[in-house]
Amino acid sequence: GMMREIVGLSVLEKQIREKLKVRNVIIVPGNSDEYEWVKQEMGKACVTYLKKIVTTRSIIAVTGGTTMAAIADVMTPLNHRILFVPARGGVGEKAENQASSIVSQMAHKANGEYRQLFVPDPISESAYQTLIDEPMIRDVLEHIKGSNIVIHGIGDANTMAKRRKTSEETMRKLITNHAVSEAFGYYFNQDGAVVHKVRTVGLQLEDLSSIDHVIAVAGGTSKAEAIESYFKQGKSDLLITDEAAAEQILRGK
Ligand code: F6P
Repeated sequence: GMMREIVGLSVLEKQIREKLKVRNVIIVPGNSDEYEWVKQEMGKACVTYLKKIVTTRSIIAVTGGTTMAAIADVMTPLNHRILFVPARGGVGEKAENQASSIVSQMAHKANGEYRQLFVPDPISESAYQTLIDEPMIRDVLEHIKGSNIVIHGIGDANTMAKRRKTSEETMRKLITNHAVSEAFGYYFNQDGAVVHKVRTVGLQLEDLSSIDHVIAVAGGTSKAEAIESYFKQGKSDLLITDEAAAEQILRGK
C-alpha cells in the first residue's frame, strides 16, 4: 500500500545518503529511463523543496538538459520574486533543453524574472576573453556569481559527449581517462576526479562550495554510475533522484 511505499523510500533515502555521503536525498518512485513523468515527479519534489528555501533575494542558477526542462514544466508560483539565470553558456544543445530557455519558462511559471546567456559551449580561448568583456554578458555573469541556489543535472559521460557532438580528439581523451559522469561541463572519472572540462562562461566547479544550496536532480537506472561518480567529489547538498537509480546505486555495478 501507499504507506509501505513511503516508508520504503525513506529507508532508501537513508541508504543513499550514507553511500554517497550527501547531506540530503529525496527519492521519487519509478524509473525516468522508462517514463517521462518520473522526471516531472523529481521536478515536483524540487519545486516543493525550493518553496522552503527561497527568500526575496534568491537567485537560482540552472543548467540545461531534459531533467531541468521537466522541472520547468512543473514549476509553480514561488512565494517571492525570484531571479533565474542559466548556470553556464549552453548553446549547442537542443533549444528547449538549453538553460536559457529553461530559465525563461521557470521564471514565467514562478512569477519571477530571468536573464539569458547566449554563449556557445564550448568556446575558444580568444572568444572567451572577448565575450566576458561584453557588458550584457558581464551583467548576467555577475548575477550568476551572486546566485545562492543552483539546480543542476548529472549525465552519463558517454551520453553527454555524444549529445554535444564532441570532437574525436576529446572523445578519445574521455575514453582514455575513463570519464563516467558529467555536470556543469565537467567530466569526472569513477573516483570523482575531473578528467575534462568544457570551456565556457558561468559557474565553475570551485564556485559551488560558496553557494548555500546546490541541488542535483538526476534519475534512471542508466545514470546510477554517473550519480555515484559525481558525488565522489561531493559538491552538492541535495540529490533528488528516482527509485530505479537509487536501487542500482545500492546494487553496485
Ligand atoms: O548539458 C546540461 C546538463 O545539465 C549536463 O550538465 C548534464 O549532464 C545533462 O544536462 C543532463 O541532461 P538530462 O537531464 O537530459 O539527462
